[in-house]
Amino acid sequence: MASAPARATAVVALVLACRGLAMAADNAPVWLRAHATFYGGADASDTMGGACGYGNLYSAGYSTRTAALSQALFNDGAACGQCYKIACDRKLADPMFCKPGISVTITATNLCPPNYALPSDNGGWCNPPRPHFDMAQPAWEKIGVYKGGIIPVMYQRVPCVKKGGVRFKIAGHDYFNLVNVFNVAAAGSIKSMDVKTSNSDLWAPMGRNWGANWQSLANLTGKMLSFRLTNTDGQTLVFNNIVPAGWTFGQTFASKLQF
Ligand SMILES: *[C@@H]1O[C@H](CO)[C@@H](O)[C@H](O)[C@H]1NC(C)=O
Repeated sequence: MASAPARATAVVALVLACRGLAMAADNAPVWLRAHATFYGGADASDTMGGACGYGNLYSAGYSTRTAALSQALFNDGAACGQCYKIACDRKLADPMFCKPGISVTITATNLCPPNYALPSDNGGWCNPPRPHFDMAQPAWEKIGVYKGGIIPVMYQRVPCVKKGGVRFKIAGHDYFNLVNVFNVAAAGSIKSMDVKTSNSDLWAPMGRNWGANWQSLANLTGKMLSFRLTNTDGQTLVFNNIVPAGWTFGQTFASKLQF
């Protein structure tokens, strides 16, 4: 009997660990249906920038394994940084355009806007409530044949695997700091962020401005900064003095901490 509460605790911990990811009752990941197109060219050069604010996706570490999500999945930027495993749905796809049995994992880096006219259809694939992935072309070509243009896919949210720690890039100006949080493993997405200057004990909440950019309206210019992040799985990490005094706008700071 003594072990029963311990087992209950373990089950609760497991459920919490899986929160945010679509899981079946037996904890096997659920495959959901969507469609996928591609954009950005064979070298993915036109996927740079994007609605999550990661800028150059090569230097940010995302490479060509990225996608723009339809509004239903993008969720006003809350999905920025999340990872999805995507495979051609061989039950629904034209076998001529499908590479079955292969999956590719992408990070959400952009929004596929509603009414966006994709070359391969008459527009509307990214309209709510449709789940849709407009993938970087090299990622899409892992699972689809170029000529097909669009394929039905199966997808599931998966934990992100990243090299190194969470990174922060600061933009903006005095009294308007925009901190882009990137290279986030596990859940990939951030639920809340706080900032603290080295001469204060108070954590000040930051707000999501756009994509993965978090804003503070304090004058943080030149001050040593700590950040506190809570991801969408509810895990919190503190990045103590991650930004040294004398920092300037446009700089990136790499931590050794990772979710
Ligand atoms: C913000 O703080 C910095 C550093 O203390 C200072 O040089 C700058 O003048 C401040 N900016 C404004 C607009 O007050």
